[in-house]
Amino acid sequence: MSKVAFVTGAARGIGAATAARLAADGFTVAIADLDEAACKTAVDAIAAAGGQAIAVGCNVSDEASVDAAFERVAAELGSIDALVNNAGVLRDNLLFKMSVEDWDTVMSVHLRGAFLCSRAAQRYMVKQKSGKIVNTSSVSALGSRGQANYSAAKMGIQGFTRTLAIELGPYGINVNAVAPGFIVTDMTDATAARVGVDPEDFRKAAAEITPLRRVGKPEDIANVVSFLCSADSSFVTGQTIYVDGGRKL
Ligand SMILES: NC(=O)c1ccc[n+]([C@@H]2O[C@H](COP(=O)([O-])OP(=O)(O)OC[C@H]3O[C@@H](n4cnc5c(N)ncnc54)[C@H](O)[C@@H]3O)[C@@H](O)[C@H]2O)c1
Repeated sequence: MSKVAFVTGAARGIGAATAARLAADGFTVAIADLDEAACKTAVDAIAAAGGQAIAVGCNVSDEASVDAAFERVAAELGSIDALVNNAGVLRDNLLFKMSVEDWDTVMSVHLRGAFLCSRAAQRYMVKQKSGKIVNTSSVSALGSRGQANYSAAKMGIQGFTRTLAIELGPYGINVNAVAPGFIVTDMTDATAARVGVDPEDFRKAAAEITPLRRVGKPEDIANVVSFLCSADSSFVTGQTIYVDGGRKL
């Protein structure tokens, strides 16, 4: 039976590309997102490429929803071998304009979500004494104007990753994080719209301050997640790998 990967926020963007790559690597993939119906395009794309995937409605911030989703996937697909905590939202604002709701929403999806999903996944991984967890940080963890909530959550993800690596390592579970730079998705297009810049100009400006002189594609992240979910990374744990074209240099 093939290994099973659970990818959150996988209906589109980086999550969808990661799900497609893991399916090409041989995983059966649970495409989890807020709205199960919205996962259909990603599931169909995997099926069309000869892979296997199912759609799973799951709100990563909600304990009951997460536990039910993992129980369903383990029952239907047989195990949970890899978890990619990718679901994310932005609620950008300068500190003096940031509402408590903006703060709580971001903490709730990124940190509470990664916590709830990792806790659910380890129930299966610890029993089988193997597993891979990949969390999603960001270059914004290093400081980003207008993103006090997001930056704090994304640096929190790095501490969370190191601690899970310590706790779960003895059970053969690798826990790492990727920290994307500018990756072209609906999320970056929405940011361009919010600051009133044409998405193409926004991308050009980001490429100009990136040593590799381009912005990223979702596949750039998927490639690294694929490595972190493979046997080739079996002695790598607790790390955050920046996948940012050198942006943070
Ligand atoms: N795009 C970038 O430049 C960039 C850079 C650094 C980090 N990231 C991170 O990468 C991840 C993916 O980003 P993206 O650009 O593909 O974003 P995106 O907005 O295109 O996709 C995010 C997905 O997460 C889902 N989601 C949101 N809240 C959820 C919840 N509570 N439960 C389940 N699913 C939920 C959304 O429905 C959406 O499908 C996020 O964690 C983001 O913070 C993105």
